[in-house]
Amino acid sequence: MFYPDNFDAKGNLPSFALVKEPKKIGPLPKSWKTRVEFSSTFGQPTARVQVKPSTNLYGTGEVYGTLTRKGYTRSLWNTDNYTYKKDNGQRLYQSHPWVLGVREDGTAFGVFADNTWKQTLALDTAITFTSEGPAFRVLVIEGKTPQEVMTSLAELTGHMALPPLWSLGFQQSRYSYYPESRAKELADTYREKKLPIDVIWFDIHYMDKYKVFTFDSELFPDPKRMNDYLHDHKMKGVWMIDPGVGWTEGYSVFDSGTEEDVWVKDAKGKTYEGEVWPGKVAFPDYTQPKTASWWADLYTDFMAMGIDGVWNDMNEPADFSRPDWTMPEDNVHAGGIKFEENGKALPADSHKRYHNVYGMLMVKASLDGIKNANPEKRPFILTRSNFLGGHRYAATWTGDNDSTWEHLRASIPMSLNLGLSGQPFNGPDIGGFEGNATPELFGHWMALGAFYPFARAHTTVKSDDQEPWEFGKSIEDVSRTALERRYRLMPYLYTQFQAASVNGMPVMQPTFFADPTDGNLRSEEQTFLFGPDLLIVPQWADKPTLPKGNWRTISLVGETADDEYQPQVKIRDGAIVPAGEVIQSTEDYSLEKLTLFVSLDEKGKASGKLYHDAGDGYGYQNGEFVFANFTAKKKGKTVTVKIADTEGNYPLGIKTVEVKLMTEDGVKTATGSAKKAIRIKL
Ligand code: GLC
Repeated sequence: MFYPDNFDAKGNLPSFALVKEPKKIGPLPKSWKTRVEFSSTFGQPTARVQVKPSTNLYGTGEVYGTLTRKGYTRSLWNTDNYTYKKDNGQRLYQSHPWVLGVREDGTAFGVFADNTWKQTLALDTAITFTSEGPAFRVLVIEGKTPQEVMTSLAELTGHMALPPLWSLGFQQSRYSYYPESRAKELADTYREKKLPIDVIWFDIHYMDKYKVFTFDSELFPDPKRMNDYLHDHKMKGVWMIDPGVGWTEGYSVFDSGTEEDVWVKDAKGKTYEGEVWPGKVAFPDYTQPKTASWWADLYTDFMAMGIDGVWNDMNEPADFSRPDWTMPEDNVHAGGIKFEENGKALPADSHKRYHNVYGMLMVKASLDGIKNANPEKRPFILTRSNFLGGHRYAATWTGDNDSTWEHLRASIPMSLNLGLSGQPFNGPDIGGFEGNATPELFGHWMALGAFYPFARAHTTVKSDDQEPWEFGKSIEDVSRTALERRYRLMPYLYTQFQAASVNGMPVMQPTFFADPTDGNLRSEEQTFLFGPDLLIVPQWADKPTLPKGNWRTISLVGETADDEYQPQVKIRDGAIVPAGEVIQSTEDYSLEKLTLFVSLDEKGKASGKLYHDAGDGYGYQNGEFVFANFTAKKKGKTVTVKIADTEGNYPLGIKTVEVKLMTEDGVKTATGSAKKAIRIKL
């Protein structure tokens, strides 16, 4: 940790990114490579880290543009940035004052400015943070590999919670599905057409005049009945809650908030009046303990409607009444809450200091409420705004993108950099939000979308219907294949999420993670890794640079390597990837008929791992989980594949194992029981 001479603890601490104050272990070792210089730029505190021309830079949070970040200057000021137009997408809905550096030799480092103020982050021959707040401290992480740096970052900023299995399924949204009959028809159509899906989303129209925690009595007279219907169809419902509370006397949320005085104040101490969907609104001041608990309590009745997950949007916060669509910087937050284990209560301060964590504070309060309401279930929140460390509370999507090829392509480096900034659970609006996708674009986006960590199709209020069947039979089939591929890989995907929850590794990883010492891979952003063992190569990728080694294309559901739409999925040599059967919902998830895709390395060996538990609830924290380790070994002309060992008590429930061995002469398949080794003759 590097401190400037004039470090202002009161003006910057407690930290929002860190889960707890790190303990001092000693002075800086002489050999330490990455050093921070502090200075001041036009009176503003600046921290600078010099970087060699051969070092590549990544991360910087949610940003538009290329995977490698040198040459960009981003502003850290959470912004409702429709179709990423403002500042060329260099300030979006969330801020991560964080950079990952990868040196020529593959060693890596991370740099993060531990403050929440409005600031800029410039990347060229140096990494430079310039803050509009007081002098701040900087943390530097060293690692032998970029993966090691990601693990260290997660040790400092916390791990994402293990998500409920259903949240890894496909999800369909639009602005908005209503009335109840329309949402039911949507659920029916998915099931009739055998398009796998887990979740239907409810955007703002379900509310009574956009008032949060209310339901329109005509459109959704019985929201519990709506959710029951989804549950009967093996689906879940996620419903939206925004922070702005409609300024309407007689509306219980506004009245109780006013009575408890939970609102953000203007510079003169009056309740600030903003404008969002309901018209005039008051904004909860989540820096106050009473606001956080009032907000959390609102979820009790809400979740009792059978709601499974919550979508927190517009929490930058967006405010239509202002030129830059957010509240004034001199608005006042009263402070008082204790954040994580950092001990001290937040001091009162300006919006300029707390703006970037407004969304993070909101989702933390939401999470508390949801957990209180459903203590037995794993919570799921999707948030638009957040801050470094906010992966502890919510998953995210990349806001209002465009239905264009540019935004489809850009979604890969965007999601990768979010993952490299500590947020593994993310994805864009599949199909694109603004405008209408052509059938071809939609098909390609569904095909790619099968491999986003968070896979949800969404579109805006004025756009045409954007469900797979709206684009004709062939795109419906393309979509089905894409979804079947995702569901078939669910055992592997869930295993990757479990890993992310304990080691901070992104689920969607840059191709250079396959070999951080290979300088040629450093700016590869058309392809990416889906966990460490699968490489995703879109059909449209133009001369991508692939990692060395024998990455072999696998067929998951009968698709061919030259499919017009489906990206190629390549398995790493030396890997065993577990897969399940194609299912329509994760409620049917089972390992009864397990498939193992096996690709031997040069030494004739391969190994793989599978994590399994109940898929929801907290039993796994009391030992109700299991890991299975698979091995494959070639001896002479025989390859032996087996479950080498298991750790944990949860029943795997595997009855048959089908091995698909990749060889130079094609795929060799053999089936056997889980209890015995399976032998394949070459
Ligand atoms: C914002 C969100 C979008 C949502 C809309 C209406 O634009 O980013 O996803 O559909 O608000 O709630």
